[in-house]
Amino acid sequence: MTIMTATSSYAYEPILERIAEEIERTPGRGRPADYIPALAACDPRRFGMAVAELDGTVYGVGDWRQPFSTQSITKVFTLALDLAREGDELWEHVGREPSGNPFNSLVQLEYENGRPRNPFINAGALVVTDRLMTRTGDAAGELLTFLREESGNASLDFDKEVAASETANGDRNAALAHFMASYGNIDNDVPALLDQYFRQCSVEASCADLALATGFLARHGIRADGSRLLTRSQAKQVNAVMLTCGTYDAAGDFAYRVGLPGKSGVGGGIIAVVPGRCTLCVWSPGLDERGNSVAGVAALDRFTTLTGLSVF
Ligand code: DON
Repeated sequence: MTIMTATSSYAYEPILERIAEEIERTPGRGRPADYIPALAACDPRRFGMAVAELDGTVYGVGDWRQPFSTQSITKVFTLALDLAREGDELWEHVGREPSGNPFNSLVQLEYENGRPRNPFINAGALVVTDRLMTRTGDAAGELLTFLREESGNASLDFDKEVAASETANGDRNAALAHFMASYGNIDNDVPALLDQYFRQCSVEASCADLALATGFLARHGIRADGSRLLTRSQAKQVNAVMLTCGTYDAAGDFAYRVGLPGKSGVGGGIIAVVPGRCTLCVWSPGLDERGNSVAGVAALDRFTTLTGLSVF
């Protein structure tokens, strides 16, 4: 086995092929999310993975061009879009500590006076979307435009059926939003906010699209067109929160195994960042009990082991 050193330049394609072969041979892929029909219908044996270099060159394997439901991966982009507009004031309304609780948990919110632990649990993402909505009028639209521009894929869109199913099954998110509104931590009408949040979750994109769209975090805040979205320091902050909070109550295990900032979604996708080097996105719909893609985490684990590319 060849283990590459961190100074090597990488031939990503053979590494991706090798990972896909290993994943193919691995039994047990977890179970797709079943709270809405569109996710429950996904085949857990689907697998795709993409790597994007800083200049937008993208490599992939398997189902890397197949659009899937991005779900909570979008929380990274709304965080970045809001942070770019309002700066540190955001952190008065949402924390940046791991929650140690499931992503849709209510319990901490009362102890902590309606201020969510971090922007990547649902409560925190609702606060971020609310604040982005106040600043732009259309948080979900702002997100979609950003994803289209960064990926170069103008056909990216919301999945209306997924958004409608999210709404129909949205009692817990509604409870979180109303509860935070009772503490004065939500500015907009809760039904309007939920509509924005569910549309945000419903964006369909592929591994290639998301690896490219995450590029600004590897380029220390610089967008695909060379303009700056975040300061270098803010890009570091977003990466740090991804590392510590991006995979729910499994963030410690993800950091241990993968060693990269990452963010998962219950559609089975995970994005990850190698700052200054490249970005990754992996998709496989089978989840573990904490809501992270089983094959996705395994593939990223293998990627950092085989390449030595990690923040540690
Ligand atoms: O809001 C929800 O529960 C889902 N639409 C998204 C969940 C997800 O991907 C995990 N969230 N942190």
